[in-house]
Amino acid sequence: MNDVPESVLVDDIATLVTNDPSRGRGEVGEIRDAALVVEDGRVAWSGPRAQAPAADARIDAAGRCVIPGFVDSHSHIVFAGDRSREFAARMSGRPYSAGGIRTTVAATREATDADLLAGARRLVREARAQGTTTLEVKSGYGLTVEDEERCLAVASRVTDEVTFLGAHVVAPEYADDPRGYVDLVTGPMLDACAPRARWIDVFCERGAFDEDASRRVLTAGMERGLLPRVHGNQLGEGPGVRLAVEMGAASVDHCTYLAAEDVDALVQAAGRPEPTVATLLPGVDFSTRQAYPDARALIDAGALVALASDCNPGSCFTSSLAFCVAVAVRDMGMTPDEAVWAATAGGARALRRTDVGHLAPGARADLVLLDAPNHLYLAYRPGVPQVAAVWKDGELVSGRP
Ligand code: NIG
Ligand code: FE
Repeated sequence: MNDVPESVLVDDIATLVTNDPSRGRGEVGEIRDAALVVEDGRVAWSGPRAQAPAADARIDAAGRCVIPGFVDSHSHIVFAGDRSREFAARMSGRPYSAGGIRTTVAATREATDADLLAGARRLVREARAQGTTTLEVKSGYGLTVEDEERCLAVASRVTDEVTFLGAHVVAPEYADDPRGYVDLVTGPMLDACAPRARWIDVFCERGAFDEDASRRVLTAGMERGLLPRVHGNQLGEGPGVRLAVEMGAASVDHCTYLAAEDVDALVQAAGRPEPTVATLLPGVDFSTRQAYPDARALIDAGALVALASDCNPGSCFTSSLAFCVAVAVRDMGMTPDEAVWAATAGGARALRRTDVGHLAPGARADLVLLDAPNHLYLAYRPGVPQVAAVWKDGELVSGRP
């Protein structure tokens, strides 16, 4: 699988997770003793090994497991500075609040573009080495027109999934004029940032933006052609989930504190042709020592659940989807199958992507070879590095088979 156009057979896969229920067992479409053919950066064929077609070259999976690359639909990796002491204080009992974001804003404004890019690239490499092949990246630590724009410029150097989050918190200069800040975000800042982003996001939460301000932000972004997604219900119950569903957001992220009507809204939104996904961020609840959301109840009710890292310097500094899978299984009531699906196919749904998150023919050849016989090992062996090799668009980008 290199630049030369040829077909490559990935052979002797003990367990292949296709996420295509028509191809194998369960929602994850698991095929035992499988093989997969890659051609021109795409999956050309996947199925039982005994039926594999001929190919120009062969990679030996040697009885290990292949899953689709993780689709991490939520990160904030364009930043400068360090908040390890804030984390330590939390572990000694101080609660997390949105206010900590301003610490990172100050450091980010001071940083050069080159420093921000180097930091983002380092985290992309780190995420890739752990199996993430699609990564959404938000702005939100600039909070001036110029700083938000340059954070988005950095983001677009490392990913195609770029999100404008000027409405992360009210910028410190506008502490006494939050309406004025929303005017800035929906006016000159959006003018500068809309051409650089695919998504518009808002932190709809106590200490950040209320329902009316959040609706204004999302509406303004959508009028500029951006697609909505929402941070909601992270620190307490609130209007975030219902607003996201009302606006037809692709995803509402956190969902840690849900009222019955929020669950109802998510279930109703899951049935739409363009659903609103409930994206759970187990690393945040871990690193802020909050209660975990009840993923079991959400899934049983019929909501569509994704898992993402939320990699950021404040509420959760992990880039590991494997870690998120393990926590979701251990503490949020998800089965290993559901958690692996949620971190791959679920993330793809949250980004409205059909070309990633599965390994049926036609999908991008974004593959992760695990040093494990099956995908259950991601939760079964928490904290253990098990990613042997990662391919993106058929190209080896980390490790070796
Ligand atoms: O998703 N919730 C809002 N934003 C981030 C936290 C950012 C920070 O604390 O720096 C989040 O958790
Ligand atoms: Fe976030």
